[in-house]
Amino acid sequence: MGSTRESLHGQWSSKWVFILAAAGSAVGLGNIWRFPYVTGENGGGAFVLVYLVCIFLIGIPVMIAELMIGRRGRRSPINAMRLLASEDGLSSGWTVIGYMGIFSGFLILSFYSVVAGWSLAYISYSVSGDLASDLDSSRAVFEALTSSAPRLAFWHTLFMCLVIFVVSNGVTRGLERAVKILMPLLFVSLIAMVIYALLVGDAYKALTYLFYPDFSKLSLDALIVAVGQAFFSLSLGMGALMIYGSYLPQEVSIPSTSVIVGLVDSLVAILAGLAIFPIVFGYGLEVSEGPGLVFVSLAIAFANMPFGDIFGFVFFMLLSIAAWTSAISLLEPVVAWLIETKDWSRPKSSLLSGGIIWMMGLAALLSFNEWSEFAPFGKNIFDWAEFVSTSVLLPAGGLLISIFVGWRLSMFTLSEELNGLRSSLYKAWYVLVKYLAPLGVTLVFIESSGLRGVILGFFAS
Ligand code: PHE
Repeated sequence: MGSTRESLHGQWSSKWVFILAAAGSAVGLGNIWRFPYVTGENGGGAFVLVYLVCIFLIGIPVMIAELMIGRRGRRSPINAMRLLASEDGLSSGWTVIGYMGIFSGFLILSFYSVVAGWSLAYISYSVSGDLASDLDSSRAVFEALTSSAPRLAFWHTLFMCLVIFVVSNGVTRGLERAVKILMPLLFVSLIAMVIYALLVGDAYKALTYLFYPDFSKLSLDALIVAVGQAFFSLSLGMGALMIYGSYLPQEVSIPSTSVIVGLVDSLVAILAGLAIFPIVFGYGLEVSEGPGLVFVSLAIAFANMPFGDIFGFVFFMLLSIAAWTSAISLLEPVVAWLIETKDWSRPKSSLLSGGIIWMMGLAALLSFNEWSEFAPFGKNIFDWAEFVSTSVLLPAGGLLISIFVGWRLSMFTLSEELNGLRSSLYKAWYVLVKYLAPLGVTLVFIESSGLRGVILGFFAS
């Protein structure tokens, strides 16, 4: 039987609670806000296809690897990496995965919280009847929000307080109640939205756009966006699932839970696409509207729907909660690490790290208004934070994790953590983490950074 180590920070009370918590981490703004908008910016069907291939062939195998490291180490990502490396006689340099993850977590949460703040603001618009029923007014509502730094700061601050509150109280206790009821509710309300959107919007255009892969619309740059979005959406590459894995009871099967989480996560993203694109085409929005796409389009849908204010209220409430359960997993790795290494209390660790992220978030939100002119190389601070974290750091983290598990970790550790897995499935997983994941991510990095030309030129000369 595997290791008998225990986590300092608690344990999930059952397999289902863990699945819900991991799904709570995975399902969030990544699925409902980011997936539709990056799909729109990258041409639709072909992007969706590549994205799904990344989820199943790279994402889920890396998820298994990440959960395994977490459970084996039973501590924060940095310390888990240190422990596993030392047990297998490897360099302590592997802790870089943990440090990088902490940095990515800070960066992601700083812009994530701003977008979660939009969702909170839209709850209040539903109540006050401010959701606009036509395109121009809906855009104006969104712009009025993002152009006001104080308003954005208010909602961002509120969201960060909610996140810090749960993390201070201990994640394993805090999350259980929220995810048990609310995640299923979010799912049901999304399905209701899909049905409504398909009925009133342009269902035909939306379905062809999402599911007919037109590869001429897929650019090389889109490849790294798809890989990055797969990691982002599954919460991989920065230690969020690693820390959740460290609270996982020893008897739970990591591969089967990973497959469930991966399936749920992709399903929610597809449903979000199906809820949004019929409205986008029906009301003449641009697919490449950008980060505002979901808010502008859904607001129109709610404003035109019978009892739309109530629906809007419920939907944005659930979206905010989904963002909340994801944000908690973004903060937890650093908090666990501070508790372990600095011996600080949980509240102090949460408040301090959350406070720094809150400040970084202010810089992100100012890029929609006061600092919008400041855009080195065509991207403002918000765009840079989003780009560097999702398209560079998370894939790089996933790459290192797959190399560590596929090439360095001992067979003994692997077989202990994955025991019970049928040998054919085990082999398939092993091939994917050992070869496909590192190779796939590296190739995509090379392609999208333009390095291919340099490398070919080097060999030609
Ligand atoms: N997966 C979350 C979402 O889709 C975001 C996230 C990324 C959470 C990385 C944790 C780690 O909203």
